Amino acid sequence: PTTMMGTNGAHGMMMGRTTSTKSTATSTTAHQMALPPLLKPTRQTTQQVAYTVTAQRGKMAFYQGQKTNTLGYNGNYLGPVLQVNRGQTLKIKTQNHLTTTTSFHWHGLVLPGVDDGGPNQTVAAGQTKTVQFKIKQPAATLWFHPHAMGSTAKQVYQGLAGLIYVRDAASQKRHLPQTYGVNDFPVIIQDRQFTADHQLDYEQAYQADGTTGSTLLVNGTVNPYLNVTTKLVRLRLVNGSNARNYRLTLSNGQAMQQIATDGGLLPHPVAVKTVRLSPGERAEVVIDTARFKTGQSVTLQNGHQQVLALRTAKHLKTDGRLPATLTTLPKVSTANAQHQSLTFSGMGHMVAINHQTYQRNRINLTAQVKRPQVWTIRNTSGMMGGMIHPFHLHGVQFRILSINGATPPANQRGWKDTVALPPDGEVKIAFTFKDKGIYMYHCHNLEHEENGMMGQIKVS
Ligand code: C2O
Ligand code: CU
Repeated sequence: PTTMMGTNGAHGMMMGRTTSTKSTATSTTAHQMALPPLLKPTRQTTQQVAYTVTAQRGKMAFYQGQKTNTLGYNGNYLGPVLQVNRGQTLKIKTQNHLTTTTSFHWHGLVLPGVDDGGPNQTVAAGQTKTVQFKIKQPAATLWFHPHAMGSTAKQVYQGLAGLIYVRDAASQKRHLPQTYGVNDFPVIIQDRQFTADHQLDYEQAYQADGTTGSTLLVNGTVNPYLNVTTKLVRLRLVNGSNARNYRLTLSNGQAMQQIATDGGLLPHPVAVKTVRLSPGERAEVVIDTARFKTGQSVTLQNGHQQVLALRTAKHLKTDGRLPATLTTLPKVSTANAQHQSLTFSGMGHMVAINHQTYQRNRINLTAQVKRPQVWTIRNTSGMMGGMIHPFHLHGVQFRILSINGATPPANQRGWKDTVALPPDGEVKIAFTFKDKGIYMYHCHNLEHEENGMMGQIKVS
């Protein structure tokens, strides 16, 4: 594919303002935020839970009376939530009902490389593939999406992404808001560029440094609002955009209590006024809506752009206070660690990691299973203007040791699988592979990933 900056690049620059141009569909009507369905298991015992996930084509009315062609899992756009308990074996029958190749990647799951659903484990059109693995990580909000080289970015853009909730007994005892759709909501944030006829035309929207759009969606809803009925409301924020970075705040300036990072609960709630999320990252926050002034409408916003309006009921149900202690995280072990260095460089079609671009048959790094790893990851793209590369590693959850030499802020000290590499910056992480296999690491700006900003590590 060639760069198409000339036609649509401009839209990317205008984010944060509402612009109405001829080629942009606009909507001022507020819609109630869609809630992804909880997928019904095909079989469930204490030891195992089995699901069927189907990638399919659909049609979705983002705008009233307008049908947009989309992709979805078991539905028209996005997908359901797969719930699994720690200790259970998760068995998933994946079905590709598309006309093109796809794969089913479980982002954030700790699992053997062969089950990970990366670009080496594609499922051809019309084919079916079953994977199963044991869940051995703490409660977390994870997600799944396609990962076939050459079609990842386009398929995600058209709607393929779903959620996986890992649950565990310890977190369920914690008295956190955890009633799905009542005081606990997934909030998948995406941006899209709708054409004048309300379609998602990936080729037309394409930008080599990351496809963005002027319309924000939450769970596939344009201009969404959420009816809040409880004093404490938990939002599981997921950056499901191809390339946009978010700086999320509440319009009344109130702080949110961050309770979890990508891979699970933080030791204590951390008060944050701003939640930064690069593509692929998650954060769970609890908002105390009793502090909203009566009649005040509070919105979750990205800069000046509305993400989600929170409409509070007159009488809010009180559901206790947030516990001061959420979990205990193990000390990061770096004894006898293997050290590796990665350098992310370039822009657009010229991106690379350690001066190499992804090649299917090339193993870029090797590691020993169960031996601690310490990685120093640099972003040298600052020389060319500077942009964040969201670094993501498959098959593990890591801990951040430092960002630009400094201890990470308290809300980034939990389990992570994706971290924003600041322009001209350096992030150090530590982790241990629990399983063997070949795993991907890459920039989660999906256009950079497609342009080859990805490598493979063989763990044996
Ligand atoms: Cu969310 Cu390699 O992917
Ligand atoms: Cu990048």
